[in-house]
Amino acid sequence: MTSLVAESEPATIPFDPYRNLADGDLEERIRAAKETLGDSLLILGHHYQQDQVIQFADLRGDSLRLSQLAARSDACRHIIFCGVHFMAETADVLSREEVEVYLPDQAAGCSMADMADLDAVESAWADLGEVIDTGDLMPVTYINSTADLKAFCGRHGGIVCTSSNAREVLEWAFARRKRALFFPDQHLGRNTARGMGVPLSEMPVWDPRLPMGGNAPEALEASRVILWKGHCSVHQMFKPAHIAQFRRQMPGIKVLVHPECMMEVVDQADLVGSTEFILKTVEQAPSGSSWAIGTELHLVNRLASSNPDKSIHFLSPMVCMCATMYRIDLPHLAWCLENLIQGTPVNRIRVPADTAHHARVALDRMLALK
Ligand code: 13P
Ligand code: SF4
Repeated sequence: MTSLVAESEPATIPFDPYRNLADGDLEERIRAAKETLGDSLLILGHHYQQDQVIQFADLRGDSLRLSQLAARSDACRHIIFCGVHFMAETADVLSREEVEVYLPDQAAGCSMADMADLDAVESAWADLGEVIDTGDLMPVTYINSTADLKAFCGRHGGIVCTSSNAREVLEWAFARRKRALFFPDQHLGRNTARGMGVPLSEMPVWDPRLPMGGNAPEALEASRVILWKGHCSVHQMFKPAHIAQFRRQMPGIKVLVHPECMMEVVDQADLVGSTEFILKTVEQAPSGSSWAIGTELHLVNRLASSNPDKSIHFLSPMVCMCATMYRIDLPHLAWCLENLIQGTPVNRIRVPADTAHHARVALDRMLALK
């Protein structure tokens, strides 16, 4: 006999009660949920993630490595991304069709990625077309950008880069076109192009709030790399004065910074590289060596505790942490996992098919480089 009562979908488990659970209880529930989901679940974690959360990541890495891992995920059905929104979008674009990607807290964004949106980039492209031939201009987006900007690059013959491969990507761009429009991080663009010998006079900054980006036509005509006026609020806190102070107080200390830092900081540093590079450099450094590191606080603290034989210091006297990444915490992770098990998944990140297709073109160009 068929029931006359329509079967209703189970309601989503609400988030609020998770806030009141003790860390130990949350950790136990997360462990149990991981066991239940087994191989169908892959938790990816970015190096900036807090320790309490990163301990549950099956795989961790910087933006490049995490993209590669998402592209290679061949057993799982669900990816929970402990990172920020653009990373989860990238995982959705690169993972197999049947894989679903979740971000435990939708508010985990990236303030730099928010500094360029599709309307602003399209209108910059149209304005630039009045002064230079955009057929000669290669759009290059840092992976810290929305999927529709990656799709913009895909549609215009362009490419994505990360902080690990920005130089190879610009070389790829210059082999094909005369100049590049680099967004949204002016510092990564400037530091990389300068390292390749492009003079500052050929790198005008495009301010999307100003007519013609605030540039005279001659400056755009002379450009090799047009830098979008965006930055990371965490990495811009490191200053040359912090390096000078360490060098005064601890002669011989090595300074290691992320390329999202401003040029004046990169110029004073001994080494510059992505989070993965920073990690490897410190791990391979000789015992007893001293390091002042300019990148996100959670990574530096973890490096200090996992390398007790080295003297590891945070470069800034201020607390520079990625507040949005920090939104992924134990309550959100447990809530996300338990809803998944109950069949009421929350916070799925889904890039629309057309955007995903073109974003993938630009991402694949990058992934094919190495
Ligand atoms: P990585 O490419 O080093 O992972 O950097 C990403 C990021 O957001 C740094 O702020
Ligand atoms: Fe974005 Fe900066 Fe956070 Fe990286 S550290 S995710 S660039 S806000």
